Amino acid sequence: MSKVTTLNEFIMDRQHDFAYATGELSRLLNDISVASKIVTRDVRRAGLVDAIQGAQGGMNIQGEAQQKLDVIADNQFIKMFEAGGEVCGIASEENDDFVAFDSDFSKKGKYVVLFDPLDGSSNIDVNVSIGTIFSIYRRTSKVGESATIEDMLQSGAEQIAAGYVLYGSSTMLVYTTGFGVNGFTLDPSIGEYCLSHPNMRMPELGRQYSMNEGNIKVSEKGIQDYIAYCQETDPATNRPYSGRYIGSLVADFHRSLIKGGIYIYPDTPSHPEGRLRLIYECNPLAFIAEQAGGLATTGRKRVLDIKPEKLHQRIPFIIGSKKMVERVVNLIEKASTVEQ
Ligand code: AHG
Ligand code: MN
Ligand code: MN
Repeated sequence: MSKVTTLNEFIMDRQHDFAYATGELSRLLNDISVASKIVTRDVRRAGLVDAIQGAQGGMNIQGEAQQKLDVIADNQFIKMFEAGGEVCGIASEENDDFVAFDSDFSKKGKYVVLFDPLDGSSNIDVNVSIGTIFSIYRRTSKVGESATIEDMLQSGAEQIAAGYVLYGSSTMLVYTTGFGVNGFTLDPSIGEYCLSHPNMRMPELGRQYSMNEGNIKVSEKGIQDYIAYCQETDPATNRPYSGRYIGSLVADFHRSLIKGGIYIYPDTPSHPEGRLRLIYECNPLAFIAEQAGGLATTGRKRVLDIKPEKLHQRIPFIIGSKKMVERVVNLIEKASTVEQ
């Protein structure tokens, strides 16, 4: 039997990959893994403990009802980042504004973390997979001073590391530091993440598409044309592509990463700029997708090239297998040319 590689061992082995190999990023990734284990414990008890399940009673700045677990996970990660010393500030879905940590200890931190503490949280009550998404940048402000909004609004191409934790039938942590993508499964019996998916590659073509099809009639023509294409019989298999939509971005993306596929959330009349948030949902997954051989676009622009203008900025989002994303982009281009 081959030896198990734990996440900690893996991070240490790869430390030399980082441009600034001082061990701080390794410690930060380790902090994220510890916080995610605590959140796993809470997620696994949802439904049993009243303090954990259900609505928090508040709204976040985006007008969405907060679940108790949203707030619990948010606090857990923030606590870990504040105590770790590597991070000078954070931005998250559950905080209207970014948070600059005010201790001198934290101000010396070289990194900022942008994160969605619980993605797909409307799925908690129905026992469906949810996740955490994170994105790490070097600060652009001076070490020793307070974190600034500019630290938070860097384009996705500047990410140093990004990843997600999927609280699914098992808990998995998947991350990249720009040298490929690796996946780790939490072995609950020893409390360790173990390397289970080394060097993940997204198949160039998949047979599954993922979209909230309730939105199809209000989506732009290029998207309608692509979904119609997916629903045609594929001569190779004598059947159309399969539709798969969990409604947790992390879980839908994870399936596409492993099996090949595409996830589409276009702009709609109710979400004219798109539904998903650029800095803590789209950018981290776009970095992972590209590192695994996939693509991520708004339909008109590479996601990682967008310069964010505000913290909770939303974009139309198309991510997945290279050939599938290329096809939808072509159809959008074609439909837009005809319209002009
Ligand atoms: P969050 O729970 O962090 O607010 O994110 C929910 C997102 C994403 O996970 C999912 O893909 C999408 O919203 C679902 O939206 P619809 O219900 O409109 O399909
Ligand atoms: Mn989310
Ligand atoms: Mn969320």
